[in-house]
Amino acid sequence: MTIKNILTEPNKILRQVSLSVKNFGKEDQVLMDDMLETMYHANGIGLAAIQVGVPKRIIVMDISKNSEKKNPMYFVNPIIRNKNSNFSTYEEGCLSVPDQFAEIERPSECEVEYLDYNGNKKILNASGLLATCIQHEMDHLEGILFIDYLSKLKKSMIIKKLSKQKNKVDRIVV
Ligand code: NI
Repeated sequence: MTIKNILTEPNKILRQVSLSVKNFGKEDQVLMDDMLETMYHANGIGLAAIQVGVPKRIIVMDISKNSEKKNPMYFVNPIIRNKNSNFSTYEEGCLSVPDQFAEIERPSECEVEYLDYNGNKKILNASGLLATCIQHEMDHLEGILFIDYLSKLKKSMIIKKLSKQKNKVDRIVV
């Protein structure tokens, strides 16, 4: 397994719409293994393929607590079939928007249809953290980041901060 580089905002690739996986196979499983490893390494609970620069509709997640046994989840070509009209709010962060957090409101429950790690069709009824996480990840497949839900001012402040961090040069004393 390989730990991949996670792209961070601002980056045009993160804004791409990912493409459906056709002829699901070994190559996609290898990608999912690498994505999971990358996600664990970065202490994240979800990662979409586009975050490692691959525009495929693939997501990995693990929302189990650190102390619990690992519980990796894999979603290929996920589609939301149903959404609850009730909302819940979580403070969200994103591996592609480092060190930034904001409260985001999303439907509190959703039904997701997808292919699992073995390419089998599955349906999941998600609620709570799981529902929020899957919706956050599915936004990535459309090129949407959680900061897009914030006011223009807040969003531009965050992007400015991130750009500054990116351009920071290492200081050395010799
Ligand atoms: Ni994210």
